[in-house]
Amino acid sequence: MQDRYGHRISYLRVSITDRCNERCTYCMPHELQEWLPREEILNFEETLRLIRIATDLGVSKVRITGGEPLTRRGVLDLIRELPKIPGLRDIGLSTNGTLLAREVEPQRTMAAALRSASVRSVNISLDTLNRNVYSEITGRDLHPQVLNGIDAAITAGFDQIKLNTVLMRGRNEDQLIPLIEFAAARNLILRFIEMMPVSTREVLGDENFISISQAKRVIESRYGSLIPEPEFRTNGPASYYQIPSRQQRIGFIGAMTNLHFCESCNKLRLTCDGKLRPCLGSYLEFDIMKPLRAGASDEELKQFFLDVVDRKPEQHDFRDNYKPGRKMVAIGG
Ligand code: 5AD
Ligand code: SF4
Repeated sequence: MQDRYGHRISYLRVSITDRCNERCTYCMPHELQEWLPREEILNFEETLRLIRIATDLGVSKVRITGGEPLTRRGVLDLIRELPKIPGLRDIGLSTNGTLLAREVEPQRTMAAALRSASVRSVNISLDTLNRNVYSEITGRDLHPQVLNGIDAAITAGFDQIKLNTVLMRGRNEDQLIPLIEFAAARNLILRFIEMMPVSTREVLGDENFISISQAKRVIESRYGSLIPEPEFRTNGPASYYQIPSRQQRIGFIGAMTNLHFCESCNKLRLTCDGKLRPCLGSYLEFDIMKPLRAGASDEELKQFFLDVVDRKPEQHDFRDNYKPGRKMVAIGG
């Protein structure tokens, strides 16, 4: 699958629920906190069929997201089906980490169960090491669970664990160095993410924004000039750097300030309510649940995918078309 700008689509992000056990202000506008009714959510059979069709069209990697994907009942049953899909080579999961250490069977954590279900990589959100600040950001006092979840993920032995930190002025600008040290001690890749306008205006104003270049300045004043690693890519738009004189890689996701951000975009998104979104930062979405539930054939659904990819914009319009009120929690980041 290739769009008109030469983006080759090999990566499908699949949101399996709009529900979350946390309430991060940058993700979930307070006034939009109603969950979708169950019948409006794709069931597992439907989700798997769409993933199969996408892999027929060249998708080789999926990332399961939410909401918080681990709150979806039966999530392991779904994930255990994924390795059976021909052509799917890489399975990832994005999570807030709060449920990774939970025992799903005697002596077995969620993280371990995911690992043996062939999940290769997990991305875990961690915006701060301060428990009180964590509660303020997420609306829930679950910081200890997240730290345990990170430990459980390390024990489970994923090929790759990344920590994601959304940059927020007044909230975590003092956390850049502590988070880097935390990641270094555990040999994890840490990535800093610019806040994108997907929630309400009050949390997303300029006064709360920290750019990647500002964050880099803070980091370089402590460790010296970062060494770019243009060859290292993880399937997304992050750029990676080495911290000089130590073996540590960190990443930056400059969705707002990096003007080349969309050039290498290889993604398509499937929302939990059956919409295909060609771009996170655009209102464009196409309801594939409708033909799916009306009995469309595989060929017809394939054509639907191709038509959506054909509508993929050249780049996102966050910068020009600042419209808060998007519900990130239902799109899956
Ligand atoms: N801007 C940037 N990142 C966001 N995330 C959620 N909302 C936003 C936002 N407004 C991140 C989460 C998580 C990933 C799935 O998306 O922190 O790491
Ligand atoms: Fe939940 Fe993640 Fe959104 Fe926070 S950012 S509300 S943890 S889905």
